[in-house]
Amino acid sequence: MSDYPYITDPTIQAYCHQYSKSLAPALSALAKETEATGQLKMISGPFLGQFLRMFAMVIQPERILEIGTFVGYGTRCLMQGLTDTGKIYTLEKSDDYDTYSRQAFASSARPQSIIQLKGDAAELIPTIDEVWDLVFIDAAKRQYSTYFELVLPSLRKGGVILADNVLWKGKVVSPDNDKLCQGLDLFNQKVFEDERVDNVLLPIDDGVNFIVKR
Ligand SMILES: C[S@@+](CC[C@H](N)C(=O)[O-])C[C@H]1O[C@@H](n2cnc3c(N)ncnc32)[C@H](O)[C@@H]1O
Repeated sequence: MSDYPYITDPTIQAYCHQYSKSLAPALSALAKETEATGQLKMISGPFLGQFLRMFAMVIQPERILEIGTFVGYGTRCLMQGLTDTGKIYTLEKSDDYDTYSRQAFASSARPQSIIQLKGDAAELIPTIDEVWDLVFIDAAKRQYSTYFELVLPSLRKGGVILADNVLWKGKVVSPDNDKLCQGLDLFNQKVFEDERVDNVLLPIDDGVNFIVKR
């Protein structure tokens, strides 16, 4: 039993997983390979991956920004919604994960549609001259407010930001939460108070803040 509240009742969660279609076999293979890094919990996983993939397929973005690549699992889910001329930029600061994902992308269906940049996301974002249709925030949890401020000016009107892990296994409502968790809590409050956006905080997976620019 977790020390923290479950985001959704575990039996409901199991039911949702049971009756949600699974992702392509290539992504299951990538998830299996990721086990070798010992950091499997960092990938979006099949449930959120399917949500990202379907969401992107519905909005058909021309430009996607993913902040935090890891092994490229989320990238490969999101890019399935790209238009024929679309591009996804993905940012990663770790040398190891940058190398790992570059190799994984080389064998993906559309490697030419992926622009991978290595470095600190907060430094890289201002150097990219694009207008975003969709931004997936999934890197340093204490930097979410910084990422939000950096991407908002170049998000098109009606463009979407999906921010992952914003409930942090339910710890955001716990009185003994840590600095990382407080950062996520402050981010959620900031988005709620921001007149430039609409948002709905969804208890999907580890919590997704779904934000639309007005
Ligand atoms: C949760 S993982 C990303 C998972 C990926 N988006 C997915 O859906 O499978 C977070 C990644 O962000 C990277 N990261 C952390 N801080 C960062 C920063 N300041 N700039 C760029 N990347 C960062 C980590 O090295 C890690 O690979």
